[in-house]
Amino acid sequence: MTQAAPHQRDLAGESWDPGQYLKFADHRLRPALDLMGRIPLERPPAIYDLGCGSGNVTRILADRWPAADVAGVDNSPEMLAQAAAAPSRIRWQEGDLAGWRPDRAPSILYSNAVIQWLPDHHQLIPRLWAMLPPGGCLAVQAPLSWDLASHRIMRATLRHGGPDGQAIGSPELRAAVANRWVQDPDFYYDLLAPAAAHLDVWTTEYQHALTGDNPVLEWVTGTGLRPILNALDDADRALYLAEYRRRLNEQYPKRPDGVTLYPFRRLFFVAIRQ
Ligand SMILES: C[S@@+](CC[C@H](N)C(=O)[O-])C[C@H]1O[C@@H](n2cnc3c(N)ncnc32)[C@H](O)[C@@H]1O
Repeated sequence: MTQAAPHQRDLAGESWDPGQYLKFADHRLRPALDLMGRIPLERPPAIYDLGCGSGNVTRILADRWPAADVAGVDNSPEMLAQAAAAPSRIRWQEGDLAGWRPDRAPSILYSNAVIQWLPDHHQLIPRLWAMLPPGGCLAVQAPLSWDLASHRIMRATLRHGGPDGQAIGSPELRAAVANRWVQDPDFYYDLLAPAAAHLDVWTTEYQHALTGDNPVLEWVTGTGLRPILNALDDADRALYLAEYRRRLNEQYPKRPDGVTLYPFRRLFFVAIRQ
């Protein structure tokens, strides 16, 4: 069982497959809209969608604030190519949020389902926060997936999902996926509160009603499972997937009406700078 160690760029969200991610577009859109709905600015001149992906949400931001200059930033050329394929007034920019700087003063820094791919939030969040002028808004949503059964099983299957309870993959891979990057809500509250004129931090647990076979596996294949699948060789990937699928089906049984319920908790915060 030999595997490559996961490449940091891969763990950080490179090589996105827009098609796989967009399979659950409706479910994934709702938190983006819930976040947007809490932004209390009427006429923001400049909006950045950080980690804009294929641009679905960026286009809604541009529609909601038609007078704003709107830019979508992402480090995935595949996602940006898909975003730019539909004509719009949005400026698409390739950039890594780890070192990104805005090209004009932002009124809103909006980020939906992205910061879970970036480490060191004690540095990242204050850096983004400091880019805003007084009255500027930082609006962020991220999955609280660390404690979800699907993600606990994901890590456990690597640790002892092989034949006779053996580990699958390299120790480096297991160490890499054992990093918890999204913190509890009070962590973000404490970072932002000292300079906030308005601060709203909340969590929501959605009950996604999914259909089809192995829908939870399909869901995570578009996001959190990618670093694992990319780091395993063909034989171990097949072994891992068979065992992970079996455990997921036990945890998330299909109901008599054909629906699989997938409870999923998410963190939100909307902060306005003093
Ligand atoms: C789950 S998708 C979310 C896309 C979009 N925000 C949405 O709500 O549909 C995560 C996106 O974050 C991007 N991403 C991950 N790490 C990044 C980084 N360090 N810098 C910029 N973009 C990043 C990925 O390329 C991907 O497009």
